Amino acid sequence: MSRLVVVSNRMPLGSNPSGGLVVALQDAMEKGGGLWIGVQPDADVLEGAEPAGENAVSVPGANFDRVAAVVPASAYDDYYLGYANSVLWPLCHGRMELIEQRPHYRAAYEAINSRLAKVVARFLRPDDILWVHDYHHLPLAAALRAEGVQNAIGFFLHIPFPTAANIHAVTGVEDVMSWISQYDLVGLQTQRDVSSAMDVFRQFPDSQFLMDGSLRFRNRTFEIKSFPIGIDAAAFRDIAARSRARLAPRARRWIIGAERLDYSKGLPHRLRAFGKLLETEIDLQGAVSFLQIASPTREDVQAYREIREELEQLSGAVNGRFSDINYTPIQYLNRGVPRDRLAGLFRQADVGLVTPLADGMNLVAKEYVAAQDAEDPGVLVLSGFAGAHEQLGQHALIANPYDIEQMARTIAAALLMPLEERIERHQAMLRIVMEQDVAWWSESFLNALEAKRLGSEFLSIL
Ligand code: G6P
Repeated sequence: MSRLVVVSNRMPLGSNPSGGLVVALQDAMEKGGGLWIGVQPDADVLEGAEPAGENAVSVPGANFDRVAAVVPASAYDDYYLGYANSVLWPLCHGRMELIEQRPHYRAAYEAINSRLAKVVARFLRPDDILWVHDYHHLPLAAALRAEGVQNAIGFFLHIPFPTAANIHAVTGVEDVMSWISQYDLVGLQTQRDVSSAMDVFRQFPDSQFLMDGSLRFRNRTFEIKSFPIGIDAAAFRDIAARSRARLAPRARRWIIGAERLDYSKGLPHRLRAFGKLLETEIDLQGAVSFLQIASPTREDVQAYREIREELEQLSGAVNGRFSDINYTPIQYLNRGVPRDRLAGLFRQADVGLVTPLADGMNLVAKEYVAAQDAEDPGVLVLSGFAGAHEQLGQHALIANPYDIEQMARTIAAALLMPLEERIERHQAMLRIVMEQDVAWWSESFLNALEAKRLGSEFLSIL
């Protein structure tokens, strides 16, 4: 069996991981083992780390080992806050007005990936399978090839693929295409993302679509396919059933939302819809509360500071208008909550709101489903802009975050849904979430990558 080497910007550090990537990969790595390589600005030090040659530290673990490529803090900021989160993130989420391009962001992004490639190359054995994750590392395969690495390299993009129209906002877009083509297999979350990627490549005369479904860009042949990411649904269901976390008072109906405080999540729209609900359904005043957990993220980026202020104002306005001595309509937590508590809160909430404006997959939708009591399940309200919509859209209630009144009506319908219908919808979604779980996701990707590797070995023998 080949060893799996995973590379991503972020690695698991504490018990409170934030963001879908670390949660999903940690579940996969705990089971399969291997090596996880991440990036750390030199100011942060990994607990228990030992020096591991130039620009790297390592932490051996029970199930998998971790290595951090250590990089200077100022270059890290230009790469992470700059190019990754002020160019690529808004681009992929269609928020073009938030893109801030600076030449030194791009330079740092390429330099850090080259430096990371040197660390990865040093730890790599010839028959390792290498799996690189997310938009922080688009140029990594190209940099590894420059280091002479010939291993099969897979890439998975956790966020949406940019559309053919939007991609031109990035200066040097052909370089980006060429970076992507250095991978052997590119995994995207949804069919919609694969269509976007195909549309993007179709615009360039250097692209060729081959009969076997693969793509040729310049002199590289590779494949782009969708692999919707999942969760460890069985484990999450157990955690939820065992959790002692309680929503109080229990007599009240509860709506829950939980995510990183990111502008892609549509939180202002959601708070407005909840305000609209209380305004139009007078009976619900005093009878339903909304718990919104929004964990802080990327706070050094201006757009994230602004969304935080906007949310504070909005929740204050709704609470000011509808609160009573014993009633607070919105409980807004601007911090993360440990996963076992979160699972218990999901289980008790009557409605789970997952209404992003754009989202690669959104694992909260799947966690909410997994956490429910199958005999008295809550209702998932999902937007069509979450990747999870491709798998769950037929069975969830669909809200349009761009239509506040429609969203308010959908929440009202969720609160009124009879038990029988709740069970029916939940069963259908639970089946999908359990079958297409995180193990299914990583196995399907790695099997496809392995098939590519064997295919190219076979060709090289011929
Ligand atoms: C999303 C991205 C991940 C990222 C996570 C948390 O899920 O796809 O790559 O790790 O957000 O964001 P952060 O910037 O804190 O790593």
